[in-house]
Amino acid sequence: MPKNYSEYICQQCGYKSASFLGKCPNCGEWNSLVETSVSTSDKKLETRNLKLEELVKLSEVKSQSMPRISSGFDEFNRVLGGGIVPGSIVLISGDPGIGKSTLLLQAAMEIAGFARGPASRFHPASTRSGLKSNVGGQEYAELRAVGSPPTTVTPHKTDSSVLYVTGEESAHQVKIRADRIGKIPDNLFILPSTDVDVIVGVSEKVKPTLLIVDSIQTLTCDRLAGSAGSVGQVRECSQVLQAHAKKSHTPIFIVGHVTKEGNIAGPKVLEHLVDAVLNLEGDNMHSYRILRSTKNRFGSTFEVGVFEMSDRGMLEVSNPSQIFLAQRIEKRAGSVVASTITGERPILAEVQALTTSTIFGIPVRRTAGLDPSRVQIVIAALSKAANIPLGNLDIYVNVAGGLKIGEPAADLPVALAIASAALDRPLPEGTCAFGEVGLLGELRPVSNIKGRINEAKRLGFTQFISPDRFKTLEEAISYSIHGSQD
Ligand code: TYD
Ligand code: MG
Repeated sequence: MPKNYSEYICQQCGYKSASFLGKCPNCGEWNSLVETSVSTSDKKLETRNLKLEELVKLSEVKSQSMPRISSGFDEFNRVLGGGIVPGSIVLISGDPGIGKSTLLLQAAMEIAGFARGPASRFHPASTRSGLKSNVGGQEYAELRAVGSPPTTVTPHKTDSSVLYVTGEESAHQVKIRADRIGKIPDNLFILPSTDVDVIVGVSEKVKPTLLIVDSIQTLTCDRLAGSAGSVGQVRECSQVLQAHAKKSHTPIFIVGHVTKEGNIAGPKVLEHLVDAVLNLEGDNMHSYRILRSTKNRFGSTFEVGVFEMSDRGMLEVSNPSQIFLAQRIEKRAGSVVASTITGERPILAEVQALTTSTIFGIPVRRTAGLDPSRVQIVIAALSKAANIPLGNLDIYVNVAGGLKIGEPAADLPVALAIASAALDRPLPEGTCAFGEVGLLGELRPVSNIKGRINEAKRLGFTQFISPDRFKTLEEAISYSIHGSQD
């Protein structure tokens, strides 16, 4: 008879212990012992009885085109690589309160509601009411960002249902949230449970189109003694869910909270177990939320979807550039529009710089939405190559609207914004910039120039300050700020 028991295994050296120890006696690492479930079935015998019929030639495996399930949001589908793949596990991570439960509940309501109105579900997104962000009274759902992939979703079966497991909130609390969002479909089931075996059991009976687990940190498995949220429990529970997903072809969305260090439940325990990792980013100061994929077995990574948190849940933003530039004051020194690429999509954003005289000793350099070390390098290159004295100035640089730009193409817009602020001269109207700045002040080409220019042109920009027009930072500055080509 196979028997289950648990063991504590050091994640550094593999040392095993029957009880928990704070420090591994073998390698001396602290907090490295993780509870693991062990089954005593005779593995060796099973291996000997392995049937060779299970061996297949890869060339003979039929390629399946995977039908995808629409999440009900074009922006969400885009990040998923075109929709939800049956049998896949997707981890949705993000800071507490960012809107993970809201977004998933909305997707659940969309999917479970499919049976009621299939005619409208696959219409162009703009015909659906209340889902699109509408800033300044303009409806720009029709406008799609250049390069945005068409959504390749196929209609799924009409009896779609969603099982929403909530370990954090009561069914009543979920209901309050659902009431805010809209009409509640009949096929949306709520299971307030934290026992992973119960959840899998219920899911096997309900056979939902989508299973949502909110959150993995609240789940437990009785085979382990550790408390919910411990590395052992999180790992064991995700393995149980993974086995269920693969066996029943049920797609599962798992919510994972980000720990203080920015990891999901300890040292990236979950990330290699799941098929896709989506991060919901944003901050409490702004209503925009960015869903970013950092791993996706079924789509491209670094794809982003933009949402806006409203009083009726999350709204899709199909035209992020317009939103990020909405509050921009033209002809203001220190403001530069940058054409950046996030995923495959070009997004325009405003880089702002403010410079003031340093009052106490060391000048301050602060950034938001940009890599601080890259900004430091740009500042150094700017003061040396372009001969702009910045030594006595406090410099603040940020990306307006809470967007984060991680690519070097932001260098040139940052440099121009700082130069424009320091010299108190605005850039000419209709100017957009992108390009990497080298240590010696040379401008280096960046990817997808065509996409960047097209997106900027679409929004009415006519002048481009880019590495294909200017060789050095000095040339770019003298043209755009001093208004001369020499
Ligand atoms: P929530 O989805 O509970 O976050 P998470 O699951 O990531 O912890 O979102 C909570 C926040 O969203 C909360 O501060 C309230 C706000 N919110 C809105 O602004 N509008 C809404 O329609 C809803 C449902 C929530
Ligand atoms: Mg939540």
